[in-house]
Amino acid sequence: MDKMLITGGTPLKGEVSISGAKNAALPIIAATLLSAETQRLTNVPVLGDVTTFLRLLEKIGAKITKEDDHSSIQVKQIENCEAPYSWVKTMRATILVLGPLIARCGEAHVSLPGGCAIGARPIQLHLDGLKKMGAEIEIKHGIIHAKANRLKGAEIYFEVPTVTGTENLMMAATLAEGTTILENTACEPEIIDLANFLNLCGAQIMGAGTERIIINGVPSLGGTSYEIMPDRIETGTFMVAAAITKGDLLLKKCRPAHLLSLIEKLRAAGSNVIVEKETLRIIGNTIKAVNAKTLAYPGFPTDMQAQLMALMSLSNGQSIITETIFEARFNHVAELRRMGAQIRLEGRHAVIKGVTSLSGAPVMASDLRASASLVLAGLVAKGETEISRIYHLDRGYEAIEEKLMKVGASIKRVKA
Ligand code: EPU
Repeated sequence: MDKMLITGGTPLKGEVSISGAKNAALPIIAATLLSAETQRLTNVPVLGDVTTFLRLLEKIGAKITKEDDHSSIQVKQIENCEAPYSWVKTMRATILVLGPLIARCGEAHVSLPGGCAIGARPIQLHLDGLKKMGAEIEIKHGIIHAKANRLKGAEIYFEVPTVTGTENLMMAATLAEGTTILENTACEPEIIDLANFLNLCGAQIMGAGTERIIINGVPSLGGTSYEIMPDRIETGTFMVAAAITKGDLLLKKCRPAHLLSLIEKLRAAGSNVIVEKETLRIIGNTIKAVNAKTLAYPGFPTDMQAQLMALMSLSNGQSIITETIFEARFNHVAELRRMGAQIRLEGRHAVIKGVTSLSGAPVMASDLRASASLVLAGLVAKGETEISRIYHLDRGYEAIEEKLMKVGASIKRVKA
């Protein structure tokens, strides 16, 4: 397993170009299963999770060609409507094939995802919604078996807003008979990106990005060209990289409008953040203590909680970060402590007493965003930080060490 060695202490300076969003690319790739026509996707990030997902699609029947700046995906026919455990266990987002498969071919056999390092992560709301649309669902030996002749439009209320749940049902409803109303939906920008893609293919989706989405089912979908939106969590991670190293980074090809809660938080924490339409400049300064609570979009993203905690480890006071989305998303705490951070956990609250410096240490990545927080801590820690299990990082950050080295970081990957 590859390791990353980081020597901290250099303020990062320069420009970083933001890649396409992992959490928009995955549902859009899943949505290609809904049509027999060719889809041309640009700004697809080169990531572990995207590669895994494309391979799964090939098993299902997709023909995929990759050119320099785009990927073409065509699923003329579904040859195999299964997502076995060997795929699902490496990546929970494979659950996103469930809705499209039932909608397109009336059948799906998808292994039930288990919990993961950050929590139990149930998917009952996906299944309840599909049942309301007329799917027969049985779980046997850990596999979801779903069947439906043609799904029927339904009114579905989500008890809690779920991102992939909203996406799964929105995709399923595009080919259903009649109108589906989804209530209390997640409002994340990635859901709007998916709806925009589907509407260009001929779907009739209204209200994506709000708490009420209305989908008029159509008999079939066509093909289109689509550019995946920029990754707001990669953008946020580089914003914190500038703040924590007291550097000066210009982030290009991003959408600041998707990051208002983080921009406000970083300003309150002392950074100077200059916002333009597609760029963000962050100039780090003395780090002030701020509190934060993760919430569904447009609240503070759970996917930025670990990174903010790395920053708060070096603040000039005490801050409290509350995680309300995933019950176990604090794996980074023990590792940050190994680097000298003073963090105490009280249930879903982390109480962080800022220290004046962190010190490099061997640490272990446990999930994607926890890994990002260790990289951020390593960038500013005294001496060398050795991060093992960095495959977690490769799942969700495109060319992270190249991008960081270009702006002055001292990073080395050690191949296993
Ligand atoms: N929930 C339920 N029942 C369900 C589904 C969800 O109670 O049937 C609860 C969850 O337990 C959680 C909340 O709803 O408390 C939100 O979970 P959600 O379903 O929205 O999460 P997800 O769709 O599994 C996506 C992202 C995650 C991101 C979360 C929250 C993708 C592929 N994954 O997961 O991304 O943290 O939304 O924003 O879009 C990451 O990129 O590192 C990552 C984990």
